[in-house]
Amino acid sequence: PVDLTKLINERIREVPDYPKPGVVFKDISPLLADHTAFAAVVDAIVAYYGRGTIDKVVGIEARGFILAAPVAYHFGAGFVPVRKKGKLPAATYTESYDLEYGSETIEVHQDALAPGEQVLIVDDVLATGGTAAAAAQLVRRSGAEVAGLSVLIELGFLKGRDRLPELDVHALIQG
Ligand code: PRP
Ligand code: MG
Repeated sequence: PVDLTKLINERIREVPDYPKPGVVFKDISPLLADHTAFAAVVDAIVAYYGRGTIDKVVGIEARGFILAAPVAYHFGAGFVPVRKKGKLPAATYTESYDLEYGSETIEVHQDALAPGEQVLIVDDVLATGGTAAAAAQLVRRSGAEVAGLSVLIELGFLKGRDRLPELDVHALIQG
């Protein structure tokens, strides 16, 4: 049997002092480049929620897109991009959240999600939870339901999960 945790962990490269001194960056490029590991990650997310339960998969720019699009395809669900401010052309809902320095704003098209739809949010990393909390707010403002949040890596020491008490948080590995 496949040891999914090992398969993933062995293909995440830790880059010290990136993007700034003291931070250890989790680079998922080696995992994405390995078709067996990439497919196992996509399969595991779909298997956790089960086919037939999800109407739309929301991917968060930029690294969330890479995982969310094949997950949507595998569910038989639509894909919806949540993008950083100014990138989506039509009318949007926007949410802002604080970063360590400054703030970030993300958006979704107002017509991308419909009331009652079951939506899975997918991202590569759950850190402080600010991004995921804002994405969940965007889904709710659209009138849709957040079925859960799937991430490849949860940085548990940053307590992002505590900011998302109402969400089913599914993390494939702890980082
Ligand atoms: C990273 C990561 C998550 C987010 C997690 O994205 O891809 O989206 O941070 O952090 P949080 O839980 O503290 O909000 P980043 O904004 O660096 O941009 P990128 O995906 O475009 O590289
Ligand atoms: Mg990101």
